[in-house]
Amino acid sequence: MTTLSKRVAVVTGAASGIGRNLAFQLAEAGAHLALVDVDDAGLKVTADEAAKRGGSDLRVSTHLVDVSDRGAMAALPEAVVAEHGAVHVLVNNAGIAVEAGFHEHSLEDWDRVLGVNLWGVIYGCHFFLPHLAQADEAHIVNISSIFGVVGVPGNAAYCASKFGVRGLSEVLWEELRDSHVHVTVVHPGGVNTNIVASSKHTDPESHARVVAFFNKKTMPASKAAAQIVRAIRTNQPRLVITRDAEWADRIKRALPVRGNRIFANMMLKAMGLEGVLKKRQAAALGRKPS
Ligand SMILES: NC(=O)c1ccc[n+]([C@@H]2O[C@H](COP(=O)([O-])OP(=O)(O)OC[C@H]3O[C@@H](n4cnc5c(N)ncnc54)[C@H](O)[C@@H]3O)[C@@H](O)[C@H]2O)c1
Repeated sequence: MTTLSKRVAVVTGAASGIGRNLAFQLAEAGAHLALVDVDDAGLKVTADEAAKRGGSDLRVSTHLVDVSDRGAMAALPEAVVAEHGAVHVLVNNAGIAVEAGFHEHSLEDWDRVLGVNLWGVIYGCHFFLPHLAQADEAHIVNISSIFGVVGVPGNAAYCASKFGVRGLSEVLWEELRDSHVHVTVVHPGGVNTNIVASSKHTDPESHARVVAFFNKKTMPASKAAAQIVRAIRTNQPRLVITRDAEWADRIKRALPVRGNRIFANMMLKAMGLEGVLKKRQAAALGRKPS
């Protein structure tokens, strides 16, 4: 985008983490904001701080919307346009995780994760595209994950949703090529947010290890948000965030099967989860753990 000043940006999942920091930085760049989340209190905190950072001309609206709710998402663009007059930037960021073996995922877990992480992005693109098309310049950002590039044990529904976001985004690159609607797909590695702490999990001990890893060894959300804002400004189609994720992306491309195993092992080791994988595998196959 040539400028973010006076543009209207919709950010889903704006009550926390990457979405909240994106809201702050888009406000600082002069963009008006439509902030979307299911967490009313968190949305208000983000909106108040963004309004401070953006100055007196900035318009901030909040929308208490569940991105997995088709009807609510269908109504969202009209609400945003009624408030702001146009839409230029859509960031499909809202996301949730379930940390469990495949055999431990209930079908409701699949519905919930695919509902928010994949359908939420589909609805965002589907319902906002006609409005973005009317702008002189527009940008869609879809937040996938490095788990949308590599399959990591304990994350079946999450990985499936993020691979889906990647597929959708790569199709949009081509279908919208050479148009005024640009598309960025983002594949972050570990970013220090609430996503892991708030995830549903089946093994409290391994969950505690994952949370500890995330609190210590991951990138601040403000830094990840800064890279995403830069990608919007420069119309960058693909953004991989964190060194580990860049490395995983390269090794996966060079060695599609073995590279997957190498990265999965690295993640399990870093979080101390090798034993959990063995335990889950035995349970899935109806065997005693070795
Ligand atoms: N943190 C990481 O390490 C990491 C890595 C890769 C990708 N991501 C992705 O980044 C995005 C942002 O996550 P985050 O890490 O900032 O997590 P977060 O938990 O801090 O923020 C996610 C936000 O989404 C909101 N949300 C959840 N369900 C929703 C729904 N149904 N409708 C509307 N809003 C909903 C939550 O209330 C929350 O405010 C997610 O898509 C996540 O999968 C995060």
